[in-house]
Amino acid sequence: MRFYIIGAGFIGRTHAEAIRKLTDEQEIVIKVADPNPAALNSFTERFPEAIPYADVRTMLAEEAREDDIVIVGTPPVTHFELSLLALESGRHALCEKPLVMSAEESEKLLEAARRNDRLIGCCSSRFVGLPKQHAVKRYIESGALGDIYKVNFVYRGQRSRPGVEYQPESKWFLDRAKSGGGILMDWGPYDFSVLNDLLKPAQVEVMAAWTSKPVTEIDPADTVYDVEGHVGAMLKYGLENGKSVWVHYERASCTHGEAYHHVEIEGTLGAVKWSPYFESDQVLFKSDREGEVVTAESTCAPDGPIDVMDHPVHYFCRKVKGLESEAVVNGQAVFNFQCLQAIYACAETGTSQTLYRDREKSNR
Ligand SMILES: NC(=O)c1ccc[n+]([C@@H]2O[C@H](COP(=O)([O-])OP(=O)(O)OC[C@H]3O[C@@H](n4cnc5c(N)ncnc54)[C@H](O)[C@@H]3O)[C@@H](O)[C@H]2O)c1
Repeated sequence: MRFYIIGAGFIGRTHAEAIRKLTDEQEIVIKVADPNPAALNSFTERFPEAIPYADVRTMLAEEAREDDIVIVGTPPVTHFELSLLALESGRHALCEKPLVMSAEESEKLLEAARRNDRLIGCCSSRFVGLPKQHAVKRYIESGALGDIYKVNFVYRGQRSRPGVEYQPESKWFLDRAKSGGGILMDWGPYDFSVLNDLLKPAQVEVMAAWTSKPVTEIDPADTVYDVEGHVGAMLKYGLENGKSVWVHYERASCTHGEAYHHVEIEGTLGAVKWSPYFESDQVLFKSDREGEVVTAESTCAPDGPIDVMDHPVHYFCRKVKGLESEAVVNGQAVFNFQCLQAIYACAETGTSQTLYRDREKSNR
């Protein structure tokens, strides 16, 4: 398979590591494009097998093959243009999160993918498919939770802003015109890929939402810094079975309040609590026995050499080959992204926003 990585920065290198782990492939070609010579040099020092290009168009000029994959690993402001270029070159495109900058761009990208008969995928698939996510899915699908009515999805960090506390050299994270937003654009893509994979909503309504930008004494003053550090929303998920689930969503990379996370799904017969990300592999299921709360605890650790950072490339390759896969692509990738945009729109206008998963069927 041939991989065309656009962007030789942090995540471009991570994807190259993932490609190296595709041990079933007979032939692997890696090409990489970045206009920054320092980034390109450090990339090829670490991956001498990669063929470097200063210019993306030159890299994509050769004739496309059926399973060629372009990986877009640049700041969000470039995602639309570069993914479009990849699709129009006749290649599948796997784009970093957030997919693009606006709902309109996401629609155009989906149209281009369909027109070119290619896949547009989003790396927001990173945490989907972990054993603990499968365990939670089994609790839902088996009926052990009864009718699900409430989800708490809360992750509050006090000082974890990209561009400030981590990766301080990548100031673009702080500039809305380049990043599309703050913590919601950074972690929201993962949150809504996890949530939507579990609940499979036919419809999502953002009923209320807010954003805020808490201030610290080390806020950078020499760069644009206009993104939110804290966001919250109340959403109503309309499930395929016609029932509704309330989702309380909250994310902070900067708050003066307490740091904690709480992810739990509650139903009429039980509740399941877990950490979808790095904190723990424990899954707790609580139910009732003779009027008492009983807890079943399981640990669902991943095994094998493939880790979460490898998932987007590995899932997407399987999808391109027509194999069963956890990849987040096309309409699902666009729907997940539009959940984020609907939260921003609701926070900005004060008006609820409704999204339909299958717009063709719902005719909206
Ligand atoms: N850093 C992380 O922890 C992380 C994790 C997961 C996903 N991501 C996502 O990956 C993307 C990139 O983030 P990063 O941390 O790798 O950034 P980075 O700043 O480390 O690297 C971005 C690279 O893209 C290059 N670039 C910019 N415009 C380009 C263009 N038009 N053509 C080719 N190259 C171009 C830059 O020169 C730079 O080398 C973002 O969407 C981010 O949300 C980052």
